Amino acid sequence: MSKRQFKIAVLPGDGIGPEVIGESIKVLDAISEVFQCEFHAEYGLIGAEAIFKTGDPLPEETLQICKNSDAVLFGAIGDPVFDNDPDAKVRPEQGLLKLRKELGLFANIRPLKTYSSLIEKSPLKREIIEGTDIQIFRELVSGIYFGEKFTDPEGAYAYDVCRYSREDIIPIVHMAFKEAEKRNKKLTLIDKANVLDTSRLWRKICQETTSQYPDVKLDYLFVDNAAMQMILNPGQFDVILTENMFGDIISDEASVIGGSIGLLPSASIGEENALFEPIHGSYPQAKGKGIANPVASILSTAMMLDHLELHDAADKLKRAVEHAIENKYVTVDLNAEQHYSTQEVGRFIADYIRYSEKSYYNFENIKIGKSTIV
Ligand code: IPM
Ligand code: MN
Repeated sequence: MSKRQFKIAVLPGDGIGPEVIGESIKVLDAISEVFQCEFHAEYGLIGAEAIFKTGDPLPEETLQICKNSDAVLFGAIGDPVFDNDPDAKVRPEQGLLKLRKELGLFANIRPLKTYSSLIEKSPLKREIIEGTDIQIFRELVSGIYFGEKFTDPEGAYAYDVCRYSREDIIPIVHMAFKEAEKRNKKLTLIDKANVLDTSRLWRKICQETTSQYPDVKLDYLFVDNAAMQMILNPGQFDVILTENMFGDIISDEASVIGGSIGLLPSASIGEENALFEPIHGSYPQAKGKGIANPVASILSTAMMLDHLELHDAADKLKRAVEHAIENKYVTVDLNAEQHYSTQEVGRFIADYIRYSEKSYYNFENIKIGKSTIV
């Protein structure tokens, strides 16, 4: 049988991005050895790195590589040089925002679940978080992120407009209802409909849509209350649907439930393109130290495999990650006493994919520091 071929645009970006993406590539190599598929990586510059080299946070060449790909793997973006300078004319983040817009990636999907061996790592109590399994749908190419912006030249005032049209909202509403139908049939719209017109439009469209998904129970929460509910009782959530900025904030908050933001992947989906990225940022303090957790990037790669309909490969990859976590083969954020480097965790997961079904390979024997052939 001939191998299925895929073109992957790889954008490592800033900070720890190149390190965690390096581990995703390692894992993809293992996948292509075991499954009937081949990945052709094309690298592009983005973010601070691209500004330093070309002056542009999203060079045209990078955009073209992405448009011609079957999927984009993205690392991280951001650099303290720009964060601390409110007058900077170009910013690394503009590269990612433009890329999302140009590729039409309207839905950002952020799954969140807890691993039983990591429950104690969470700052929240076991009984509150056990069994949490949430899928967040965040609108990604409209709202206040993309509305008109202005700063008065004298610096006296500034504004950012939050704008939503029906066309911006309807596709992601259907996506979220469909996902809820496949899961526990509960959809929660997070908004601020007691204050914002845009939120009232979201509610109206959700209400109009519910008759097409009669099995799904739709409810609503104001975002301030939702922020509280997320840590008081995350078990009440199944699928969450929300606009761009609320989704940005709520998903970072939700990430503490699982014990580390370094675990959480995301998929950004459009009509024609798809991009996969960890939800963590560029974590500049950790750059080059080999301490960053590669799991979020590796699980984003699993979401990419699912998107490419390589479901067996995606399942295998997710099992490999679970195996690493359950056996405490993790980076320092998850175990301060005994931990492994970014590269060791990546290699362990890649090795598991290659050899877990081979009887001569002992994956339980990891106490000596690495998986060993016995
Ligand atoms: C995210 C990030 C981005 C966002 C930044 C880097 C522009 O925080 O993907 O959540 O705000 O969307
Ligand atoms: Mn964010």
